[in-house]
Amino acid sequence: MTAAAADAAWWADAVVYQIYPRSFQDSNGDGIGDLPGVTSRLDHLRWLGVDALWLSPIYPSPLADLGYDVADHTGVAPEYGTLADLDELIAEAHARGLRVLLDLVPSHTSIEHPWFRVHPDWYVWADDGPPNNWVASFGGPAWSRDELTGRWYLHSFYPEQPDLDWRNPAVRAAFGEVIRFWTARGVDGFRVDAIDRVMKDATLRDDPPASEPFGLPLPEDYGALAHVHSTDDPEIGLALAALRDAAGDALLVGEVYLPTARLHRYVEHLDVAFAFEFLHAPFEAQRLRAVIAEAATGSAAAWVLSNHDFPRLATRLGEERAALAGMLLLTLPGPVFIYQGDEIGMTDGPGGDPPIDRAGRDPHRHPMQWEPAATGGFTTGEPWLPLTDPMQRSVGGQRGAEGSMLELYRALIATRAELTGPVEFIEAAPDVLAFRRGRHTVALNLGFEPRPLPVAGTPEIETEIGAVADDTLSPLAGALLV
Ligand code: NOJ
Ligand code: CA
Repeated sequence: MTAAAADAAWWADAVVYQIYPRSFQDSNGDGIGDLPGVTSRLDHLRWLGVDALWLSPIYPSPLADLGYDVADHTGVAPEYGTLADLDELIAEAHARGLRVLLDLVPSHTSIEHPWFRVHPDWYVWADDGPPNNWVASFGGPAWSRDELTGRWYLHSFYPEQPDLDWRNPAVRAAFGEVIRFWTARGVDGFRVDAIDRVMKDATLRDDPPASEPFGLPLPEDYGALAHVHSTDDPEIGLALAALRDAAGDALLVGEVYLPTARLHRYVEHLDVAFAFEFLHAPFEAQRLRAVIAEAATGSAAAWVLSNHDFPRLATRLGEERAALAGMLLLTLPGPVFIYQGDEIGMTDGPGGDPPIDRAGRDPHRHPMQWEPAATGGFTTGEPWLPLTDPMQRSVGGQRGAEGSMLELYRALIATRAELTGPVEFIEAAPDVLAFRRGRHTVALNLGFEPRPLPVAGTPEIETEIGAVADDTLSPLAGALLV
């Protein structure tokens, strides 16, 4: 964290709400979520009590990667609205005390971005076929032949997403302009996509075979190599310093898909980096305690348990554990990120038919369920992805309902400001994860047996009605105690 950011630090304990714009709220009946739709739902975020929202990409895009293939970094996709709609969203958010983060995608562009033809030297090329063994995250070689020139270009993700060459100062300058364009419009920060891919080995050496576990889940053929040259180059600071220089005090949250021990180079320049070891940890008391303790060191963790890339919490963990996860997440010190729909316990849906995302992530991206109605209050038209189960689960259905996930999230967010100091773990019965935050204690029973409360106290918030009785924590239940 820079000294300037430490002063500002509006985000120090902020709750940031991730909006997947295509699936949040449609305002014009075309079945696609849009910016006026987001603006119309700001009061939900205000009521929920979050501090900021992060918009997944809203830029013009051919949608090979649902917006993470950007064709214009300073524009708004027509199906989402106009720049004026975004200005309005920002103004209305600010009027409600909500900050706005955009998604910055610096590692690659869409192959249809004009830069690819106008500034080919801003990308990474090889003349005579793939120069090394690098593989793309979504499978297959990381090099593809450009039909027009016959040369080969590098892509860390889909072939429609050529990688930029951040060793070229013109690329760093171009992104500086992009950042300043948005901060001048009032944007408060950026979630920075795939930032560990931005700088790679200058001489393009082969990646060696993986000889030890990476520490986070990887697709199978991608995980066969140790990505020591294709990612996370020691000179990454060059790119990060350029981003920071342009961003000034704006919040920079790194999407760095690396184990905690390898995040230090990134948080020298960025404010925080997502704690992916936390997201992927088995939901067991000892493992969670270890990953939280490690990630909390240095206070640069952005806590996250779910996003548009991974199975939803309630699917991954089941409903009761999803409530425990919500309590854990929202009682940690530092910025925490919640993914739209987690506050009502949304599960994965069936995905598109035929599938839309080639990497199989449709199920985590179904529309937000606002009301118990066929199209969930999301659209008056045909939704781009079907609704999952709006009759069973919706904001309207849970608002004011005692014991609902939504009221649990709201209570936790409201109480968050009272939690002070670092996490101090306390010894507890097997399967119980327990820690102090100032005068509060968080006690979570992650197992199937009733367990004694680790300390005496009065439950202020419970993950379910009756979680605590006779100084005992029910199975799969938790409480915030004072
Ligand atoms: C991470 C994003 O969250 C994911 O959705 C995307 O496919 C990759 N980065 C590539 O931009
Ligand atoms: Ca729309």
